[in-house]
Amino acid sequence: MPNYATTRDRVETYFDRTATKAWERLTSDAPVSRIRQTVREGRDKMRALMLSRLPEDLRGAQVLDAGCGTGAMTEELAKRGATVVAADISPRLVAIAQDRLPVALRPQVTFHAGDMTDAALGVFDAVLAMDSLIYYGADDIARTLHALGQRADRVVFTVAPRTPLLMAMWHAGKLFPRSDRSPVMIPHGLRDLTLAAGPGLARVGRVARGFYISDCLEYRAEAQP
Ligand SMILES: C[S@@+](CC[C@H](N)C(=O)[O-])C[C@H]1O[C@@H](n2cnc3c(N)ncnc32)[C@H](O)[C@@H]1O
Repeated sequence: MPNYATTRDRVETYFDRTATKAWERLTSDAPVSRIRQTVREGRDKMRALMLSRLPEDLRGAQVLDAGCGTGAMTEELAKRGATVVAADISPRLVAIAQDRLPVALRPQVTFHAGDMTDAALGVFDAVLAMDSLIYYGADDIARTLHALGQRADRVVFTVAPRTPLLMAMWHAGKLFPRSDRSPVMIPHGLRDLTLAAGPGLARVGRVARGFYISDCLEYRAEAQP
């Protein structure tokens, strides 16, 4: 199992070089294949589910969009009135997110190209990490949650669930490792993550739409003994 730094480097190379264009397109309104359209729809549902954990009116709230990608969540948070720090390890995706953000919302958002766990990013009422921890092992997710949990009341994040299909794909990937060093999604259950992270984790719900299947979880550091 690669460690945090190795995974993060792979993620950065993937999103900042290999897959920037594909990701830019998937997260736009441009036409995509039927399979990708299901992913787009699933991701829209997941974004709404994650946002439903926060109050509708976010004026006065500080929120970290951890692994903001091209900025769809950042925009929604800012529309609700939040002050947002949008951080991503891929500078090219951060630049796209900056470009896409409507001018009227720009004063509410600070962009940062770098690690989501950087303490210099500040303290928050909430952290949202949509599909940005899906490549990390349970111990790395636990460390990330502990780091973010010191600076936020709640961390809402997603993981790929341990469904038979995703587990089979993951095992096949281990048998036939990819040569391009792309990051590999690692499925998790609430049980393995709780073993690694301790109490404070709860499952919010699952979104399954075509080729997109993801669990939304919430971590609250105050539940730690
Ligand atoms: C699948 S994309 C999701 C992007 C965005 N959250 C969304 O849902 O559209 C995962 C993102 O997480 C970012 N990421 C992964 N690990 C990170 C880390 N340790 N610090 C900052 N960004 C990270 C990647 O660069 C990538 O943009």
